[in-house]
Amino acid sequence: MGFVRLLPRSASRARNTAVESDLDVDLEVDVSEIEPGLDPAAEVPALEDIPVLEDSPEPFRSAPVASVPIVVPQAPVPGVTGTRVIAFANQKGGVAKTTTTLNLGVAFKEMGYRVLLVDLDPQGNLTMSQGLNPDTIEISMFDVLVRKIPISDVIERREVDLAVASIDLAGAELALAALIGRERSLEKALVEVRDRYDFILIDTPPSLGLLTINAFVAATGVIVPVQCEYLALRGLVQLENTLAMVRENLNPHVGVEGIVPTMYDSRTLHAREAVEILEENFGELVFKTRIRKTVRYAEAPVKGSSVLGYDPTGTASEAYRELAKEVLHGTEAREHA
Ligand SMILES: Nc1ncnc2c1ncn2[C@@H]1O[C@H](COP(=O)(O)OP(=O)(O)OP(=O)(O)O)[C@@H](O)[C@H]1O
Ligand SMILES: [Mg+2]
Repeated sequence: MGFVRLLPRSASRARNTAVESDLDVDLEVDVSEIEPGLDPAAEVPALEDIPVLEDSPEPFRSAPVASVPIVVPQAPVPGVTGTRVIAFANQKGGVAKTTTTLNLGVAFKEMGYRVLLVDLDPQGNLTMSQGLNPDTIEISMFDVLVRKIPISDVIERREVDLAVASIDLAGAELALAALIGRERSLEKALVEVRDRYDFILIDTPPSLGLLTINAFVAATGVIVPVQCEYLALRGLVQLENTLAMVRENLNPHVGVEGIVPTMYDSRTLHAREAVEILEENFGELVFKTRIRKTVRYAEAPVKGSSVLGYDPTGTASEAYRELAKEVLHGTEAREHA
């Protein structure tokens, strides 16, 4: 049995919301009951079924990452005119989801596109990286998802527009679990602002819970940042299993738009081999742009800035500009297919 644990403030906020909504919420919820038909852990190979790499003569090539086919969305979402809603997801922590959401967003803005970022992670790192403190924010994506306030009320104008997170968001999974239409909360909230933006980029937490599922349901595509090391590749099977369930039940059009190799250190054989495996298994889905390892990406958020704002002419900024072009071209190629 797994239980959702809440910080005290978030727990009381979730309870208050449930009481306001006249709902019966037990603050210790078995996560397996959140969505019976949508168990993210289903059909994931057991760890012992995965070959032990050290024993293999060609360790990297025995990787099990290709056992689930990645599906690319084949058609634009009906009724959606132009706006691309991209979720940045990987249940592994620290793979550069937030860094990619922010810097790609700023790169799109530099190109003249209208961009909204949505911070759907209770850690609030995206919010922080734009110089805002999630601990002191009064209303946030929690209120949008659970209390149904307009998303425009929580959008801050920074380098790009940003729908902010607060610490309360930690209670959103629990509060949402009690609501009808819990997986569609974000999709509904975005209707208000969708036409005002060309790109809506959603930063998700390092899990495949209800917040990430909300992002998948609202999204036209998913970009998966993957750290260039072998262990980072294994979670892709589970991610695609969850996406497959979302496609089956909630959003038939969502799929992986691309995989971004991050924290790439070309000097190490390990990083080069990790990228080779990605390309062998996922082919064209792997973006050509490699986001190299550099301390610039850690320095910029401390200044409340993207890397493109902090070091506009550096190679770290250029990498995300290149990635932005690739995302655009990939999209066009698919639209004309
Ligand atoms: N290319 C890179 N080179 C070096 N450091 C990086 C790179 N990209 C991101 N980082 C740093 O690695 C850390 C993790 O990055 P980030 O927060 O973007 O990952 P994340 O996937 O969003 O993490 P979480 O799962 O906790 O949300 C941060 O300190 C960030 O500054
Ligand atoms: Mg993050």
